[in-house]
Amino acid sequence: MNDKFNKKEIKIIDGEMYYYGFNLTDLAKKYGTPLKITFLDLIKDRINELKSSFDSVIEKEGYKGKFIYLNANKANYGGLEIKEALEHADGIETSSYLDLVLSSDLIKKYANNKLLYSNGYKDDNYLKEILKVNKSNIDYTCIIDSIDEYEFLKKYAKNLKIGLRVHLPALYSEEGEVIKNDRFGLMNDEIDYILADLKNNPNLIISTIHFHQRGMEFEKDKFLKNIHLAFENYYVKAAKLYDSVINFDMGGGTPLSAYRTYDYNEFASVLIKELKSLASIYNVKEPNIISENGRYTVKDSVVNVYKVVAYKETDRDFNDPKNTKKFYPWYILDASLLIALPEMYALGEEILIEPINNLNNEMVEARLSSITCDCDDVYFEKDKGFIELPKLEGNDQYVALLGTGSYQNSMNGKGGVHHCLLPEEKDLVIYTKNNKLKFLVRSELQSYDDIKKLMKLDIEK
Ligand SMILES: Cc1ncc(COP(=O)(O)O)c(C=O)c1O
Repeated sequence: MNDKFNKKEIKIIDGEMYYYGFNLTDLAKKYGTPLKITFLDLIKDRINELKSSFDSVIEKEGYKGKFIYLNANKANYGGLEIKEALEHADGIETSSYLDLVLSSDLIKKYANNKLLYSNGYKDDNYLKEILKVNKSNIDYTCIIDSIDEYEFLKKYAKNLKIGLRVHLPALYSEEGEVIKNDRFGLMNDEIDYILADLKNNPNLIISTIHFHQRGMEFEKDKFLKNIHLAFENYYVKAAKLYDSVINFDMGGGTPLSAYRTYDYNEFASVLIKELKSLASIYNVKEPNIISENGRYTVKDSVVNVYKVVAYKETDRDFNDPKNTKKFYPWYILDASLLIALPEMYALGEEILIEPINNLNNEMVEARLSSITCDCDDVYFEKDKGFIELPKLEGNDQYVALLGTGSYQNSMNGKGGVHHCLLPEEKDLVIYTKNNKLKFLVRSELQSYDDIKKLMKLDIEK
């Protein structure tokens, strides 16, 4: 089983899985299941690892720009998670009006010196808030995504730092079909218009060229293609026109494998060497590199642990005692995979699902199913048709979902009413304070009263 994954957070000792140094089975037994565990310190470790990889390559290569780590709040709106990320990152990237309200509040309260960048579609509320935040003491930059935003800000903003988000072209299959595209960013002619028009608008100070690429595993060719495109077509043009252009913002998509620990020195080295060479070819300054990390910051900080509450063999042919016909028994969990992993079911996001105890038992080719009344609430490895689970021999069996910290909560409506009224997991946060380990139960298993309130069952028509 171990060759399936190779992550430094995961260790198997005496048939039990340890994650980030903690025995998951012990935690499940102590706190009960269904259980969601947040390892808050892992957020700090991730941020520091990427920052120190970049800082050391920058020093080694004599690169003149610096590395700037922004937390993309949208990946996890847990209060503790966002504050932890803010403490260690260089700033925040926001994606909506309320995200900006929240982030500016947090920066004022906890971290006066941190940077704030805004992305996303800017509706009226968002635009007005941008003007407000820009008048405060916060070091603020607005990444412009449309001509309408530009025209509004040109009219009303004073001394506002801006960036231009460039639209990356669609990816096509060999047959000419669009396989990947998005609606974001300014088109070539719009960027040319803004770059020319800025000459007459000294209240908007252009500092940043921004693009965004998605990714999990590091796809070096795709990555370098996007870097070249954004740098050669846009950064060079903008930097030659305006001395204020100093940042190259890569958006999100920092590589993070669900299965393997990735070498971030290698990532930083590829990028820094490429940018250094491009800056020298085009005779422009070596830019600061901004990275807006959502998934990278928080994905691995959360693990869900569920117990197998029932076992069922629906497809065994009892007239075939030798079992010549293949069948997979069901291991039924005390929760819903569909609720826990919306990103996996809806978007094919990779999340590691593994048994965490009895790992020295004989393994069985089985399928996982949830306790909801839903035929689709099942899991097995698609390429195999099954998942290997320990043979049940009388001990409780636990299964973990490893790396559910990004986007799952926003997509499954955490704090809401769920499929088949299944209660949300007990929510445990583990962190260090003054060198002491703390175990905080942030919320108990959702109760019938909690759910009734959310349903507003007291309202009569
Ligand atoms: C502009 C921008 N920056 C950053 C992110 C975060 O991306 P990731 O979670 O891949 O780091 C996103 C995600 O949608 C984005 O749109």
